[in-house]
Amino acid sequence: MRKTLAILFSALFILVGAARADEGMWLPLLMGKYNIDDMRSKGFKLTAEDIYSINGSSIKDAIVIFGRGCTGELISPEGLLITNHHCGYGAIQQHSSVEHDYLTNGFWAMSRDQELPTPGLTVSFLVKMEEVTAKVLEGLTPQITEPERAKLIAANAKALADSATQGTHYTSRIVPMYYGSEYYLYIYEVFEDVRMVGAPPSAIGKFGGDTDNWMWPRHTGDFSLFRIYANKDNQPAPFSPDNVPYKPKKYLPISMKGVNPGDFTMVYGYPGTTQQYLTSHAVKFVAEVSDPQKVALRDARLNIMNAYMDANDTVRIKYASKNAGVANAWKKWIGEMGGLRRLNAVERKQELERQFAAWAAASPERTKKYGWLLPRFDSLYTALEPYAIARDYDREAVFAVELIRFSSNFKLLVSAFESGKADAETVTKLQHKLLSSAKSFYKDYYLPIDKQVLMAMMEEYFAKMPAEFHPEIYTEIQQKFNGHWGDFASEAFEKSVFADSSAVYKLLAEVNAQNISTLSNDWIYRLMASFNTVFATKVDGKYAAINQQLDLMYRTYIQGLREMQPNKLFYPDANFTLRVAYGSVNGYEPYDGAQYLHYTTIEGIMEKDKPEIYDYNVPQRLRDLYNARNFGPYTVNGTVPVAFIATNHTSGGNSGSPVINGNGELIGVNFDRAWEGTMSDIMFDPDRCRNISIDIRYVLFIVDKFAGAGHLLNEMTIVK
Ligand code: ARG
Ligand code: GLU
Repeated sequence: MRKTLAILFSALFILVGAARADEGMWLPLLMGKYNIDDMRSKGFKLTAEDIYSINGSSIKDAIVIFGRGCTGELISPEGLLITNHHCGYGAIQQHSSVEHDYLTNGFWAMSRDQELPTPGLTVSFLVKMEEVTAKVLEGLTPQITEPERAKLIAANAKALADSATQGTHYTSRIVPMYYGSEYYLYIYEVFEDVRMVGAPPSAIGKFGGDTDNWMWPRHTGDFSLFRIYANKDNQPAPFSPDNVPYKPKKYLPISMKGVNPGDFTMVYGYPGTTQQYLTSHAVKFVAEVSDPQKVALRDARLNIMNAYMDANDTVRIKYASKNAGVANAWKKWIGEMGGLRRLNAVERKQELERQFAAWAAASPERTKKYGWLLPRFDSLYTALEPYAIARDYDREAVFAVELIRFSSNFKLLVSAFESGKADAETVTKLQHKLLSSAKSFYKDYYLPIDKQVLMAMMEEYFAKMPAEFHPEIYTEIQQKFNGHWGDFASEAFEKSVFADSSAVYKLLAEVNAQNISTLSNDWIYRLMASFNTVFATKVDGKYAAINQQLDLMYRTYIQGLREMQPNKLFYPDANFTLRVAYGSVNGYEPYDGAQYLHYTTIEGIMEKDKPEIYDYNVPQRLRDLYNARNFGPYTVNGTVPVAFIATNHTSGGNSGSPVINGNGELIGVNFDRAWEGTMSDIMFDPDRCRNISIDIRYVLFIVDKFAGAGHLLNEMTIVK
């Protein structure tokens, strides 16, 4: 009996141990120390030095931060780079016009001189990373107060960052890990001549649109191609016709071998933000208060948008990108709250906290150091709640009104005049900025949607927010409109300068004290300013102060957790620094009775084909290739693979990240997570968390057979 129990326990332990192992976003520098044995036992054939090398070149030299929030990777010795279509979207849009509608039709440079310079787009290579905790904390004394500590750290960090790049063209950043328990220095080389090389039509690159977004099974060809250009010394330089393709230290070979269940995969890129160490109190707030209220507010907004978009094609096009943005987070939050609930995340955190409390109580030193934390977390989170709720409403209700958001751009101009600092230079600068933001704002603005949104959002705000967060203007609006937001909206949209683009352009053409002062009678401007005052005086300060205290406590809490679980490997929350996640190709059970395969094929694209539905209108050329079964060397079992899923722990920012096999070859490009697993930013579930990647063979098929841009394949290293 004893023996069976022991076996059962060790089997259980192994199961739990193995199951948990896919969680984690690891620091590349430390793979050799912590992860490499585990990785090799799971099928990785290379060394830690191949992942990140201090002296030589390594896979990290093939990876870039693409633009502001994505990842990209080099796939040729001549600076060719691949990322997602949704990451290149801004660039593709920037190059598109009515005559050259690359969003709709795609774009393929058939020679180097057709590659399109993209001002504003940069890519950054990580030159090196280094732990610098001791240097950042130099001069710290045990007696130091927290504000003094913060000041000292800021000064040390600045000095370190500056000296690290002195005499170079590099940039640097000091980044805290574990809420400031550790600090790392990151040095980057930033290239600014990046040219667009290829993008499939949106009907491929965004196939399935928001309907399929965050979902598996998936058939989106979410990729685009760019090329980095450098000066003759292979260094970053502003755009010049004399620049030449950048020669990377490393680029990724491409594997045609594809994936099977259980195959090792790793994702190497830049996850943005995770919150793995939140206490139960905070997780409960996210799952039961914050996510649901944000989802409800966006539900209302999306319903309004969708009704107008369905009724009118022009409106649909105008609102396509806005709608995608609103729907993206909305859908993620729905997945997240469902996932947290299904995981019993709150109870699991509570269990961990019970262990922690007992562990802390077991010795006087621990009690002194850690005993106070959990009760204090509870009281601080309780104090934070009203402000956190108000901030959700500020972002998701008040700023959901496009005119309110747009009018807030005028605050600087108004305050320049009010404070007598409206000199000619300041005014001209602001005028220019406002003019360009007005142009892009009105291009895609549809007033009837916004008016409905204002009514719906104001109803909600004043129904849910306590009186202390009501702006002063509310009393006046109540008196004047008897609580009818419809009447207010009619009057506001009738009279506000912002509701009429030509009036705004006129105002911007003649900026003077007299004209600007009319804004103090403008309903929209006044509403915005009044909300601003409430948030500035009653919410933001309190929210920031409590959060600052919480951050300090998390620093100590994680120290305690690490002390309590000395054998557990910890990883710092994602903070848009380079990370490695590894796991394996695998399907999953989304709900009882259903089983998802690990891959999809072009058959699914044709199954979804529906010309009358925008998101599913397959390009005719792809239909033709399909009907002729013209799949060339990309044929696998008579069809073409499109996407696959694996257990890698990823987050927003990992879009465009390379998915690499055990031999260090590129097998896919990461672009999403499966819905049932989007709670992985807070708690990872190996059973349901899956990252979604485009199969690299589908990329090659599209480039070669669909676009006829096979010349690009010649510069890649393709392993058969
Ligand atoms: N869900 C993916 C990522 O966050 C893709 C987003 C873009 N696609 C879209 N249909 N909105 O963020
Ligand atoms: N699409 C996301 C991005 O833009 C990646 C998906 C995720 O959040 O995992 O980074």
